[in-house]
Amino acid sequence: MSGAKILFILTGSIACHKAGEAISRLGQRGYRVRTVATKAALHFIGTAALEGLSGEQTATDIFAPGGALEHIHLARWADLTLVCPATAHTINRMAAGLADDLAGALLLAHDWSKPLLLAPAMNPTMWSHPATMASVARLKSWGARLVDVGVGATACGEVGPGRLAEPERIVAAVESALARPTRRLRVLVTSGGTSEPIDAVRVITNLSTGATGARMADHFTRCGHAVMLLRARGARPAEEPTREETFVTFADLDAALTRLLETGEYDAVIHAAAVGDFSVEAVVIDGIHHLPGAGKLDSGLGAAPVLQLRRNPKLLDTLRARSRHRAMRVVAFKLTQGADEPTARAAVTELLKHAAADFVVHNDLSTRGTGEDAFPADIWRPDGSVAVRCRNRPELAAALEQLLQEDPGPASEGILPPRNDGGVGASLLPPGS
Ligand SMILES: Cc1cc2nc3c(=O)[nH]c(=O)nc-3n(C[C@H](O)[C@H](O)[C@H](O)COP(=O)(O)O)c2cc1C
Repeated sequence: MSGAKILFILTGSIACHKAGEAISRLGQRGYRVRTVATKAALHFIGTAALEGLSGEQTATDIFAPGGALEHIHLARWADLTLVCPATAHTINRMAAGLADDLAGALLLAHDWSKPLLLAPAMNPTMWSHPATMASVARLKSWGARLVDVGVGATACGEVGPGRLAEPERIVAAVESALARPTRRLRVLVTSGGTSEPIDAVRVITNLSTGATGARMADHFTRCGHAVMLLRARGARPAEEPTREETFVTFADLDAALTRLLETGEYDAVIHAAAVGDFSVEAVVIDGIHHLPGAGKLDSGLGAAPVLQLRRNPKLLDTLRARSRHRAMRVVAFKLTQGADEPTARAAVTELLKHAAADFVVHNDLSTRGTGEDAFPADIWRPDGSVAVRCRNRPELAAALEQLLQEDPGPASEGILPPRNDGGVGASLLPPGS
């Protein structure tokens, strides 16, 4: 969104010189940048440098002659506010709502319908201090977005998290916060693994962390889409402010999907949850059947328990049928282990035989790297072509966002009238299960 107006607030960190580089890059990309510097920031960078870099007057003093209402005017003028570098002091006073100088007053007068970005810079101990962590969490809950700190040697010589992000990352964060999707999608993301009770304290579950779903949710939120994250309790939450619900068992997830989809509200479902293939029907000990979850089974009970399992139906296969939205898109995930290209193709084809998916994200356990977001994955179309090959989760999220925007589905968009049998697609579970 070149031409957008950016209020760039600098606070007292040695990283002010790096922020100067970000100001320069934003100007080169056609943004209008107005700078505000705290008293402490002026120890690290002068108004002459800031005005030279931005081509605009720098504001520093809330009581400057002629500038009595700058703390309101500048906040209204800006399309986006960026605090860069953001010191521990300013982050903590922002979270406390203090307005003891121009920067503080501008931040308190911030209009939360517009993006507010923080690019922190500080010593690792200041960063990890509970006061700073709590303030960051509080600011995020109000809608502030964080440009992640870098990890490495800080100016004080200590090593750890707290370095100001590199200027290109700061510019990218500004651009992504200002990006307006051409079509605002309402997206339901399922995430994490189901847990099936054996007794009151034991479960059968899987190793899904929910990292993929959380990343997808965060990316779609940052791009301006409306996201609902339906995640397993204990799975990774979203970092961005996002509507969410949690589930534990297959039955919970099944019921939540029916309830959410029958509203017809969602344009797309990204079904990244790892849904258990089996639930426990009974635990048999010495010929006696115990209902799962009914109480804690005594570990000292005679013979080894035998679990009677029930195969769960495939939720994926019925997602579209449950929705009143005629053109809802479905993104499925297929995990294989050690599959070459023909085997992967066969697995995707098999899944598409029964699942009405618009895209299938295929990834293979054996190619997963060790990095936080390493997640090599291919996005397949139902015609058997690979739409995009991705190396990691951020690439996957960006590719899916683009595909879902470009591919709005059949022309017959619209919401079906409600059915009078209580829902579009009833729960897959037999009553009482
Ligand atoms: C050389 C030097 C470097 C500093 N660097 C940082 C820094 O990177 N991050 C930080 O939070 N505080 C840093 N400080 C401390 C802040 O400048 C100080 O807390 C100040 O009150 C911040 O005020 P402000 O947030 O209103 O700008 C530094 C201080 C000095 C003397």
